[in-house]
Amino acid sequence: MIKKMFSYLVPIKIFEKKSARSKAIEVTWANGELVLDSENTNYSYGSLQRILRYGLKNIGFEKITSMKHILLLGVAGGSVIKTLVDEIKYKGKITGVEIDPEMIQVANKYFKLNKIKQLEVIIDDAFEFVLKTNKKYDLIIIDVFEDTTMPNFLFESFFSNRVCGLLKNNGFVLFNTMILDEKHNIRNQKYVSEINYNQHTVKMLPRIEEHNELIIIEKLA
Ligand SMILES: C[S@@+](CC[C@H](N)C(=O)[O-])C[C@H]1O[C@@H](n2cnc3c(N)ncnc32)[C@H](O)[C@@H]1O
Repeated sequence: MIKKMFSYLVPIKIFEKKSARSKAIEVTWANGELVLDSENTNYSYGSLQRILRYGLKNIGFEKITSMKHILLLGVAGGSVIKTLVDEIKYKGKITGVEIDPEMIQVANKYFKLNKIKQLEVIIDDAFEFVLKTNKKYDLIIIDVFEDTTMPNFLFESFFSNRVCGLLKNNGFVLFNTMILDEKHNIRNQKYVSEINYNQHTVKMLPRIEEHNELIIIEKLA
């Protein structure tokens, strides 16, 4: 409680571990909220949670509550899962795929992810999982980062075709991307231009954070 109060004045780090993939995993009290960060960026809760909430709002909370199965690629501390379950009151199943088992240990200890009954966490590479799964999803959230870097496979048409192929009719992809320079803008433009517009609608949401751009794909019935 004391740490939470002081965190309005100055952030208080309560856990830190080196990480091969994310450089560091840090849990910090900041502005009265417990957040999970990598070395150079916010991973869960804080601004990341606000960004994905804004994306979900754009899809429509009512639509989301009637969904049956959501796939989340990139779990970290699971803040979007808390938004779905606690705020939107989504009752269906959530499958979360996370490559780093240490991230899930931290998520369970500090953010009680293992108390969420409708959540199944799978430790796997998002790329491998997307190739293997034979299920169809109402919503696929792509939120995969290695510190401030996004793996290249996310932007390859092989991967986006496969992801779109996993959508039910009227299903959605919510893709969180990071934009640090003009090359990333061009990368995103190329990505959206390669989506099959006969079967999907695509939009890039106006940015609410300077360095994040959300892309929403909807599969037409
Ligand atoms: C921004 S965090 C996810 C935040 C989470 N969606 C939330 O709402 O709190 C990005 C996560 O992607 C994970 N990641 C990186 N590469 C991955 C990969 N190839 N497959 C699955 N997860 C990966 C990282 O370990 C990290 O936990």
